[in-house]
Amino acid sequence: MSHDLFLAAREAMAKCYAPYSKFPVGAAIRTTDGRVYAGGNIEVASYPEGWCAETTALGHYVMGGGGEIAEIAVVAERMDRITPCGGCRQRLAEFSGPDTRLYLCDQAGVVETVTVGDLLPFGFEGKTLR
Ligand code: THU
Repeated sequence: MSHDLFLAAREAMAKCYAPYSKFPVGAAIRTTDGRVYAGGNIEVASYPEGWCAETTALGHYVMGGGGEIAEIAVVAERMDRITPCGGCRQRLAEFSGPDTRLYLCDQAGVVETVTVGDLLPFGFEGKTLR
C-alpha cells in the first residue's frame, strides 16, 4: 500500500472527538478507483452513543458513492497496533471482501497487514437475509 492511506488515517485521527476516552483512532478506506474516505472516532457524553473511527470512515465512503474497497488502514494514538473492534469488523465486512487488505498501523506507518477475513472468520453475512 502507499503510505498516503496511512497518512489519511492519521490525519483523520487528529480530527477525532474523543474527550472521554482520550483514545484517538483514525481509519481510512481506499476504493479500487482511487477514492479515499477517512474518519476518526466520535464520542458522546452518554458513552454508548459514541462510535468508532472505522464507522465514521464507512459513513463517508457510503455517502461518497461506495464501490469496491481495495484497502483499509487503521491507527490509534496510544496503541502500537490497533485492531478494529468486533462491531467494526462486522461493519467493514459488510462493504468489503474477506481478501480486502487491512493495515494495522502505529504512529509511523503500517505494522502488520491482515485481511478482513482474517479478523472476522465465519462471520454473519447479509446474503442470509436476501
Ligand atoms: N475505537 C475505535 O475508534 N475503533 C476501534 O476499532 C476500537 C475503539 C474507539 C472507540 C472509543 O472512542 C475509543 O476508541 C475507546 O474505546
